[in-house]
Amino acid sequence: MKNNGDKNMTEKLTTESGQPWADNQHSLTAGTRGPVLIQDYALLEKLAHFNRERIPERVVHAKGAGAKGYFELTKDMSQYTKADLFNGVNKKTPIFIRFSQVAGEKGYPDTVRDVRGFALRFYTQEGNYDIVGNNTPVFFVNDPLKFPDFIHSQKRDPRTNRRNQKMQWDFWAHSPESLHQVTILMSDRGIPASYRTMEGYGSHTFKWVNEKGEQFWVKYHFKTDQGVKNLSNDLAEKLSGENTDYLQDELFDAIEKKDYPSWTVYVQLIPYEEGLNYKWDIFDVTKVVSQKDYPLIKIGKFTLNENPDNYFQDVEESAFSPANFVPGIEASPDKLLQGRLFGYKDAERYRLGANYEQLPVNKPVVPVHNYARDGFMQTQNPDGNVNYEPNSENGPKEQINKSIAKFDVEGKAANTPYEYKVDYTTQAGDLYRLLTSDEKDRLIENIVSGLGSFDDKEIQILETKQFYAADKEYGLRVAHELNLSENDIK
Ligand code: HEM
Repeated sequence: MKNNGDKNMTEKLTTESGQPWADNQHSLTAGTRGPVLIQDYALLEKLAHFNRERIPERVVHAKGAGAKGYFELTKDMSQYTKADLFNGVNKKTPIFIRFSQVAGEKGYPDTVRDVRGFALRFYTQEGNYDIVGNNTPVFFVNDPLKFPDFIHSQKRDPRTNRRNQKMQWDFWAHSPESLHQVTILMSDRGIPASYRTMEGYGSHTFKWVNEKGEQFWVKYHFKTDQGVKNLSNDLAEKLSGENTDYLQDELFDAIEKKDYPSWTVYVQLIPYEEGLNYKWDIFDVTKVVSQKDYPLIKIGKFTLNENPDNYFQDVEESAFSPANFVPGIEASPDKLLQGRLFGYKDAERYRLGANYEQLPVNKPVVPVHNYARDGFMQTQNPDGNVNYEPNSENGPKEQINKSIAKFDVEGKAANTPYEYKVDYTTQAGDLYRLLTSDEKDRLIENIVSGLGSFDDKEIQILETKQFYAADKEYGLRVAHELNLSENDIK
């Protein structure tokens, strides 16, 4: 249905049930002065439907912008994965991407300091494959049990409804695993100048499996072909006042002008056994894997060349999930990833309804055949009477040859912390030491403007101890600005 565009042909207005809609300007009243008659069903329907226009916003990453495009594979990766989208050369796969803020609500300004979501969907010949990543290679926590608490600390104070710096620093100060990501967030990368000028990462380590059943660990990197560009605090603040949707509009306008953004796609591949014994825990999402040890391999490029036709249907109803794998790509034991495998589809059943995968943006390009039936808003119930399996009616058959690769598990079941090479400070310190002196100045300024904005020495000391453990200079500089002594933070 199109509501405008052709000036010579006007569609006839109808009710939701298709009956002619007689008058859309005047309610049905008794006499010209009213009252309004309950018989005016068109009025009642219009008010009732309007009342139901809003759906729950995403519990995180509520504010976002999307675009369509394609991924072009330039290197055949069949040696490492049997996934069809990564096999062959010059294969093109349609994609949909959604960039987002994490903490703010749907109307929140785009140019605040925050991690940015980088959710990429490939509509492959084997079903949808989603990489639901961020513009940072690591994350704040590494156990899914901590995610809801972390997010609470980022959202509004339950008493005052204000965003509260103390809450987030309190959580980070008590969660030393957050240090690496906090350092990235407080650096220049915390405010991208455009969605087009930020890098993307799959963040977790995933598993690739080839036709022979050999397994490899893989990490994804999406490097912006526009170059990385960030905003200064002052400009970001000014833009927040001028246009709360700055990043959304900037992306939309570029694509509308045919200035199509693209990202070069790289992977790091780690042999299975080596990965298990690497100098870092590759299943701990607070860590990166050195590119000297496992160099980036260029495998292709994706380009965004089409804006959504309809924001609600294309972007708001999009439902990504880290559990959307295709044969040849599997989960790793990363605990946070394991929690995410449940979290997204559950959120989406609540946010959009049990049949949300039938919505156009979520519908795979390949046919769907299974024995799931009914539910709210069902439109794809198969014909026929075979709604059970096994059956003698030649219903859809399972594909045993598409099973996941077998892997060993070991250890005792218990609530355990990470134990393998636990170290939350070295990589954060390495990052600090890599920064130029100007970048270090801005990092310290950003930290101090948050951590120093409330009066709680205990939290300030606990957090500054982490900076000090990462790099003495890093800790001492923050301590100095907060009037803490070296003895306080040793
Ligand atoms: C969105 C949960 C960690 C990136 C979401 C949503 C939920 C969620 C429930 C909303 C989904 C929807 O309504 O459609 C979790 C949980 C996590 C976790 C439970 C940890 C246990 C992460 C991490 C990353 C990430 C580590 C990135 C590396 C995203 C992105 C979106 C999102 C990009 C927005 C997707 C979109 O554009 O629709 N998350 N998340 N999340 N999350 Fe996470």
